[in-house]
Amino acid sequence: MFNKEIYVVRRQKLKKEIKDGVLLFPGNNESPMNFPSNTYPFRQDSTFLYYWGLDEPGLNAAIDLNSGEEIIFGDDRSLDDVIWMGPTRTMREKGENVGVSKTLPADHFEAFVKTAKDKGRKIHILSQYRPDTIQSLADLLGVHHAKVNEFVSEEFTRQVIRQRAAKSNEEIQEIEKALETSFAMYMYAFKRTRPGMREQDIAGGIEGIALQRGRGVSFPTIFSIHGEILHNHHHKNIMRNGDLIVLDSGAESFMHYASDITRSYPVSGKFTNLQKDIYSAVLEAQTESIKQIRPGKKYREIHLLASEIIAERLKDIGLMKGNTNDAVAAGAHALFFPHGLGHMMGLDVHDMETLGENLVGYENGDKRSDQFGLAFLRLARSLRPGYVITVEPGIYFIPKLVEMWKEEGKHKEFINYDKVERMLGFGGIRIEDDVLVTRESYRVLGRPIPKTIEEVEQVCQN
Ligand code: GLY
Ligand code: MN
Ligand code: MN
Repeated sequence: MFNKEIYVVRRQKLKKEIKDGVLLFPGNNESPMNFPSNTYPFRQDSTFLYYWGLDEPGLNAAIDLNSGEEIIFGDDRSLDDVIWMGPTRTMREKGENVGVSKTLPADHFEAFVKTAKDKGRKIHILSQYRPDTIQSLADLLGVHHAKVNEFVSEEFTRQVIRQRAAKSNEEIQEIEKALETSFAMYMYAFKRTRPGMREQDIAGGIEGIALQRGRGVSFPTIFSIHGEILHNHHHKNIMRNGDLIVLDSGAESFMHYASDITRSYPVSGKFTNLQKDIYSAVLEAQTESIKQIRPGKKYREIHLLASEIIAERLKDIGLMKGNTNDAVAAGAHALFFPHGLGHMMGLDVHDMETLGENLVGYENGDKRSDQFGLAFLRLARSLRPGYVITVEPGIYFIPKLVEMWKEEGKHKEFINYDKVERMLGFGGIRIEDDVLVTRESYRVLGRPIPKTIEEVEQVCQN
């Protein structure tokens, strides 16, 4: 955990910005896999970690905005707990470590919430994602579980987003620790991949590295010769000469900060000429997008720039045609690049997404597009110093999508369907890095992972 002053100051900021009522912070509980005592690895709620630092189940916290009181609710370990799980610090000591002087037994949370509710006080909660938390809040607030979200406070949500979005130096150092793990994961994958191996031979190896060096992966690893399936978690294929791998993976530092990197590389260690052409297009879109990053720049504009580069290069290859600006405005490029350029990253790999994608990624008044492709842009807002964002363009040949669009004649003035059909089976290419918005411009975080064609071929062949 960070120095306790950091948590004190974070909570003080909340108290300064929000004046009335009580703020509730439910911590996460253990989550059973198949029977109650066989649990998934515990993952604390990220907002709870941000304000209260304590990384264990069975805790809730609250701030009374009118009195200024801060309380953590939780129990000291019982003798049974100590026998099965070992001893820990007392709740009082845990509170002191994060600058909180008042701790109460876990079951006092119920009385605290009920009293606030009975007195008609404003109760602020954030949007919740775990069924057990939603159910217990429903019970405490005396509403059906489907109504819990009526208590979600936009004021509270916006303030949390404002604070968590701008990363401090300590947080950036944590992200760079996760990226150091990513570096090791990618070097392992580049060097070990061989024709004839199973995808899971490599996917399992890199997940092991994430566990050796930190808290494991920050999301389920995408490792596939079918990169055209954007979030492909299937790892059963045998890798062959000529196949391209998309490896999109991340690690968590010990303090749960994420990394999120993608590289695409040839199983044989050498790109074919066609693979080089498509790879170069994605690489140009990625590197040119990164160069545009600076405070005040809208990420939507950078997404559109990446889209234009992709469309332009696909025209050079003969897969697209017509006026590039018109093609991008119409959304024709989304046949190949159907997702957004990136998202915020921090304690969550898609940072704060549970608080509301549009509140995180869009500014007041900025509407999310409903155009296929652009609609998936998670981050559109103006960039600010301290934001950590991903830049991850891609080009994919998705058989079902090509078949549907061709049948509909969709954007046929911009797409050479006959040539595109010959690309089916190519797979996909995505390249992703994590970038800090600095006061003046940007800094690509982490030790550079091979990315140019020459670098990738060299590391794969070593
Ligand atoms: N790992 C999914 C993504 O890159 O957003
Ligand atoms: Mn990723
Ligand atoms: Mn990402």
